[in-house]
Amino acid sequence: MLVLGLESSCDETGLALYDSTRGIIGQVLYSQIHLHAEYGGVVPELASRDHVRKLLPLLEQLLHDTQVSKTDLSAIAYTRGPGLMGALMSGALFGRALAYALNIPAIGVHHMEGHLLSPLLSEHAPDFPFVALLVSGGHTQLMAVQQFGHYELLGETIDDAAGEAFDKVAKMLNLPYPGGPQIAKLAQQGNSQAFNLPRPMLHQHLDFSFSGMKTAVATQLQKIRGQGREADLAASFQEAMIDTLTRKCIKALHHTGFKRLVIAGGVSANQLLRERLTAQLNPLNAEVFYAESQLCTDNGAMIAYTGYLRLQAGQHDDLSVTTTPRWPMTDLSPFDVLAP
Ligand code: KG4
Ligand code: ZN
Repeated sequence: MLVLGLESSCDETGLALYDSTRGIIGQVLYSQIHLHAEYGGVVPELASRDHVRKLLPLLEQLLHDTQVSKTDLSAIAYTRGPGLMGALMSGALFGRALAYALNIPAIGVHHMEGHLLSPLLSEHAPDFPFVALLVSGGHTQLMAVQQFGHYELLGETIDDAAGEAFDKVAKMLNLPYPGGPQIAKLAQQGNSQAFNLPRPMLHQHLDFSFSGMKTAVATQLQKIRGQGREADLAASFQEAMIDTLTRKCIKALHHTGFKRLVIAGGVSANQLLRERLTAQLNPLNAEVFYAESQLCTDNGAMIAYTGYLRLQAGQHDDLSVTTTPRWPMTDLSPFDVLAP
């Protein structure tokens, strides 16, 4: 089976081809970051228009790069939600219409399931069951994952998402969007122990809260104006985030009794987070799994792969196009995956 995946839920247009015997055989990604930079965040209407402009040329490029013909495709998977309505509609309509023209099935995929399953594409792939920490620009959730499609929510943020907190703190420090990689870079030159920032809700079981940490950074920033200590603050903030995420993951592992942790979503690209989890899980006989860095942030490969998994289980959509901007992952249903 050869599945074309389309991701267009936010500010990245991502396309990829997943071959059931060879894996991901090609991918293209176009980031709209420069388009939204001057507004300090994603402008939904601009995002939709740019997806519409880019989808077809990107498909042509992907087919050219991989020497695949449109008629070789077996199915098309697109992101159905969650995400920005207009952005989702662009990819969904494009995918559904192309599948109709080629007379092949189409399937709408859950963006966060795509993130969650992307570590399965790496060489060091986890078995079930595992705890998943989903940390992106819009989500921060801990899930107990028994099998494909079986997701039980253990805890989530009550305010900002982890990636959102990185982005907002970066903005305070006058760093460009998206802030996560910028903070990580600046933090390398700073002392992570310089400021003792709060770790909110450490004792409230498995939920998260990041807005207090963000406010604490704003307060410290006022105090150190003109002292050139931004790198120390960035490092201390990153440390507070990683410390909080790590402790909650360990709690979730204890709670479930599972020995595997999967981290996924943009923030899982953070090198220090990966190192910290690896070091802290080792004495617990537990292991951490993640996707290669370029598959942590939004991409078409995770949509192609997740679409393939659901298609091989016999699922596909009808001719109507449904997008679901708000879509809890716990609404998804389990499915079987046949050995290749
Ligand atoms: O998964 P993603 O690409 O998009 C969403 O589905 O939201 O996640 C984007 C988020 C942004 O908030 C970005 O700042 C954050 O992931 N991020 C990072 C790193 N790389 C991306 N946060 C911390 N460290 C990083 N290295
Ligand atoms: Zn995402």
